[in-house]
Amino acid sequence: MQSPTDTLTITRPDDWHLHLRDGAVLDSVVADTARQFARAIIMPNLKAPVITTELAMAYRQRIFQALDQAGIAQGAFIPLMTLYLTDNTSAAEVVKASQSGAVHGIKLYPAGATTNSDAGVTDLLGRCSAALEAMQKSGMPLLVHGEVTDPAIDLFDREAVFIDRVMIPLRRAFPELKVVFEHLTTSDGVDYVREAEGPVAATITAHHLLYNRNALFQGGIRPHWYCLPVLKREKHRLALIEAATSGVGRFFLGTDSAPHPKGLKENACGCAGCYTALHAMELYATAFDTVGRLDKLEAFASLNGPAFYGLAVNQGTLTLRRGNYQIPAELPMAESSVVPLAAGETLGWTIAAQS
Ligand code: DOR
Ligand code: ZN
Repeated sequence: MQSPTDTLTITRPDDWHLHLRDGAVLDSVVADTARQFARAIIMPNLKAPVITTELAMAYRQRIFQALDQAGIAQGAFIPLMTLYLTDNTSAAEVVKASQSGAVHGIKLYPAGATTNSDAGVTDLLGRCSAALEAMQKSGMPLLVHGEVTDPAIDLFDREAVFIDRVMIPLRRAFPELKVVFEHLTTSDGVDYVREAEGPVAATITAHHLLYNRNALFQGGIRPHWYCLPVLKREKHRLALIEAATSGVGRFFLGTDSAPHPKGLKENACGCAGCYTALHAMELYATAFDTVGRLDKLEAFASLNGPAFYGLAVNQGTLTLRRGNYQIPAELPMAESSVVPLAAGETLGWTIAAQS
């Protein structure tokens, strides 16, 4: 029998879905991502959402300042900015974003679907057709939080229903629009993305690859495993693992790392979001190793995303080594702290070197 791989060197990876927040929290978390990734798609769901190119450029500046304060060399990490789609996003704003060279996607949050989504879209085709038309024309990707918000729909079915009610009509109306189905969580989503015609892709988080919904309730209610879309059944996790490790170019890495202060997670009405920026590649390597597919990690983490977004692959490498990595219990974050996913547990892979 061949001995299992003990080190793995891949092209430097990118995170195609990340929440960095703003202000003091941004200062606390940005270095974690920069240690792991060369670039990241920065989600726009700040308390005051990033709805214009001007706001995106100002946020980008604050990210550069935070990187500078953290002692990260200029150019070592590039934030890829996004706008937050609203019922009022104009075609002119899309053109401006596209011409900026700094904005790489526009995010659809169905109003009320998740954290800071109140300003999100109420009726995609009814209210946003001009913006979608301009996006299709300019090649600007639509990044989709793919869950319906209809309270009559069971929480665990919201992604599957979204495909029927929103994704299919959207893609029929705008067949050339680039669409990223963010944080895919179900076998229905995997099947849809695999088979859809046209430029469709999906990001997959490390937590949806590693855990099913039992993790939320193991030994009691565990708020640090709560995110949206929520963890699903084991059969869905298996479909996600199969897709991520298949080498198919439509699937790529997006952590959806979403820091919340410890006290707002360990709460009677806890916030959704798992903090994985600190140990993302260790988590993904552990997940790929469980199915003996480490050879497919580079495509998923470093090659498929840039190909879809039309960007160059990174220079440089990241080397992972088999060995114990103990996840810290908590990390300082602004005036509070953040509890990373699977705090206190040990992973089987650790980062050994970067070049
Ligand atoms: O779990 C989540 N947290 N899902 C989202 O869609 C948003 C995110 C956040 O911003 O906290
Ligand atoms: Zn997200």
